[in-house]
Amino acid sequence: MNQYKIAVIEGDGIGREVVPEGLRVLEAAGRRYNATFSWKHFDWSCETYLRTGRMMPEDGLDRLRGFDAIYLGAVGYPGVPDHVSLWGLLIPIRRSFQQYVNLRPVRLLQGVESPVRGFPPGKIDFCIVRENNEGEYSEVGGRLNHNTSAEIALQETVFTRRGCDRIMRYAFDLARTRKHHVTSATKSNGIIHTMPFWDERFAAVAGDFPDVRADQYHIDILTAHFVRHPDWFDVVVGSNLFGDILSDLGAAVVGSIGLAPSANLNPEREYPSMIEPVHGSAPDIAGKGIANPIAQIWSGGMMLKHLGQLNAARAVEKALEAVLAGSDVLTPDLGGKASTREVGEAVAQGLALVAESE
Ligand code: NAI
Ligand code: MG
Repeated sequence: MNQYKIAVIEGDGIGREVVPEGLRVLEAAGRRYNATFSWKHFDWSCETYLRTGRMMPEDGLDRLRGFDAIYLGAVGYPGVPDHVSLWGLLIPIRRSFQQYVNLRPVRLLQGVESPVRGFPPGKIDFCIVRENNEGEYSEVGGRLNHNTSAEIALQETVFTRRGCDRIMRYAFDLARTRKHHVTSATKSNGIIHTMPFWDERFAAVAGDFPDVRADQYHIDILTAHFVRHPDWFDVVVGSNLFGDILSDLGAAVVGSIGLAPSANLNPEREYPSMIEPVHGSAPDIAGKGIANPIAQIWSGGMMLKHLGQLNAARAVEKALEAVLAGSDVLTPDLGGKASTREVGEAVAQGLALVAESE
């Protein structure tokens, strides 16, 4: 029996609705595949911030350090500025725990209609590998001349050789387990220092992987190709900002942001990794019980994979694919009428069937 200690942060808004469904499915997977989980819940959120002035306690990172993984919903809510909630919780965890890979699969599943015509299930299947520790999301900068007509805001992008090389190497290694193709997102025509550097590092790293096809596009035309030719891609590597933008676009191309999973990985496993859906707290639908829990559930599958539970991870994916293909238990974002909970229960039940048929 494998035992895992998991820190659970539901966070805000629909995070509180989809995480319980993710846990339901993980429990079901654990029962089938001999894994047990001890969940430790942390109520860190914008509500906590309004009560205490902090998104997480001062020793929050120390409290998380000993877990096998962190399973997170979403943080951010009206009433607290988004940069305060993001920089008070998610970004410190991603950086302090060296979760420099943000892995975001983009796959068109059976039963889901893509807004892009002409692509059958399986035809769109790629991964976005987003640099998660540096880049455009930097604290270097400042503001001058507040509240005058000469007001200035400056923000510096930080690209390091170590940071670029390790994310690109991860992308190439991943491509070796897939279709041997890596695409780099760049903008070295407009951004004249950091992006040419990114391109140089990409060429250098690509040189170590002669068996992997490497190409690159400027981010502007790349967004167009995501829509026109989503079947061109295998692994797409991008900086923090570009990877973030591309992953919401990728999610839309394969049906719904409510389906898109993600993992913030520390590949060296010196620190816990953090698994969370791509989407945020969706204040516009929070409290209604209609959020799609599939992104959170699929992220749970990614957590199982990271923990080495490969059969359980595959079973979670099969079960959620079966529910989507059945097309009668779908949330409103996919055109259905089911609740968050009904979808979670359907996947958990389906998991029992998948496991029995093996
Ligand atoms: P969002 O992803 O929360 O919502 C965007 C749109 O997608 C909304 O119309 C929402 O209803 C819909 N949506 C999102 N997830 C869904 C699901 N599971 N099922 C059905 N529909 C879903 O992005 P938004 O509105 O930009 O941000 C809302 C808050 O979340 C902000 O405070 C933001 O900072 C935060 N946020 C947090 C993230 C995180 O914790 N990793 C990531 C993105 C945003
Ligand atoms: Mg995002």
